[in-house]
Amino acid sequence: MSPGAAPAGQEAVQPLGVAAIGYAFMGRAHSHAWRNVSAFFDVPGIEQKVLVGRHAEEVAEAAAKYGWAESATDWREVIVRDDVHIVDICAPGWLHAEIAVAALEAGKHVLVEKPLANTLAEAERMAEAAAAARRRGIASMVGFTYRRVPALAYAKQLIAAGRLGTVRQVRASYLQDWLADEDAPMTWRLRKETAGSGALGDIASHAIDQVQYLLDDTVTGASGRLHTFVGRRPGPDGPEDVTVDDAAWATLSLASGAIASIEVSRIATGKKNSLRIEVYGSDGALAFDLERPGELEFLDATAPPEEAGFRRIVVTEPGHPYMAAWWPQGHMIGWEHAFTHQARDFLAAIRDGAAPTPSFEDGLQVQRVLAAIEESAAAKSATVHL
Ligand SMILES: NC(=O)c1ccc[n+]([C@@H]2O[C@H](COP(=O)([O-])OP(=O)(O)OC[C@H]3O[C@@H](n4cnc5c(N)ncnc54)[C@H](O)[C@@H]3O)[C@@H](O)[C@H]2O)c1
Repeated sequence: MSPGAAPAGQEAVQPLGVAAIGYAFMGRAHSHAWRNVSAFFDVPGIEQKVLVGRHAEEVAEAAAKYGWAESATDWREVIVRDDVHIVDICAPGWLHAEIAVAALEAGKHVLVEKPLANTLAEAERMAEAAAAARRRGIASMVGFTYRRVPALAYAKQLIAAGRLGTVRQVRASYLQDWLADEDAPMTWRLRKETAGSGALGDIASHAIDQVQYLLDDTVTGASGRLHTFVGRRPGPDGPEDVTVDDAAWATLSLASGAIASIEVSRIATGKKNSLRIEVYGSDGALAFDLERPGELEFLDATAPPEEAGFRRIVVTEPGHPYMAAWWPQGHMIGWEHAFTHQARDFLAAIRDGAAPTPSFEDGLQVQRVLAAIEESAAAKSATVHL
């Protein structure tokens, strides 16, 4: 029996050992989730075994602070350890394929941050490795965390239940302003060789995943445009060229006949972390904004026109996805809780022997859309069919 998987009628006894790679933004958010998940959800036991980074002293300090038993500086040694059963990849995109494929081949369950990879070729290799590992009972999942925001999970339920009728049009935007300042410094996120792309891979990937997830649909064609507004930024050794986009736009055709528009930016002055999604159907409509994560706007167009209008649902009822585990209704949760829900769903899938979603194949499909948008942008926005 593998750790964490319970035989029929019995509770598993051996906890799952987790190793996380990366300890900065996502490493911290994921550590918070691993630390709290068992306190709120009924999941197999875990142990935060080891946190991995490049600098021994800094990673040791982070490990102590975030609840990890140990720290290490070589991910290759860590992923083959017998006491590690889950590898959680919180490192930048250029490392995803190499670490994920090696960990899956070593028989470890893998959770990898989004986007799945920096290139389509890497994503294809990862999806193949995940499929082979699945046949050996090894789970893999990609961290499109917003699927676990209760309001968006509930929006999906409303759409699946037909409350919007036929969905025709989606508007998805993801706007941030952390690059609005021309003097904001270079980071790995602004170099093509380390990030793959800019706002496109970083935040359009979330928007595209949401469109396909909410509608249970597949993008079949894309027309795109990319733009870099600030071409040089201060680097450690002087000004450096920015080699990725600051903003991206696309119109997407979906297999159902619906059409989605995507607009993403990291220079949208005043917008902090606004993933906004509007879904319009024949019988209703929905709107969500991540800057107000506990609310969902819903319009029931089957009501008499005199009464119909968007109403604000406070998504904190015990009947809303994930909310029964938290506080009494009306007591809001935040952005970080989605990571706890993600850990919960990954652990539950491992326990149940189920394939968790979003799968590496789902991540690959998003990567195909990203590649199509880039190809279209390079061809004067001509439509690219997937
Ligand atoms: N799900 C989300 O909402 C969300 C949000 C932000 C970032 N992300 C994704 O998470 C990933 C990481 O982004 P981030 O914002 O945490 O980046 P970051 O720069 O804050 O952290 C990257 C971490 O990777 C570590 N690292 C780099 N090279 C390493 C190596 N060779 N061995 C071990 N560790 C190494 C660094 O030390 C650092 O701790 C990216 O794929 C990003 O797109 C997802």
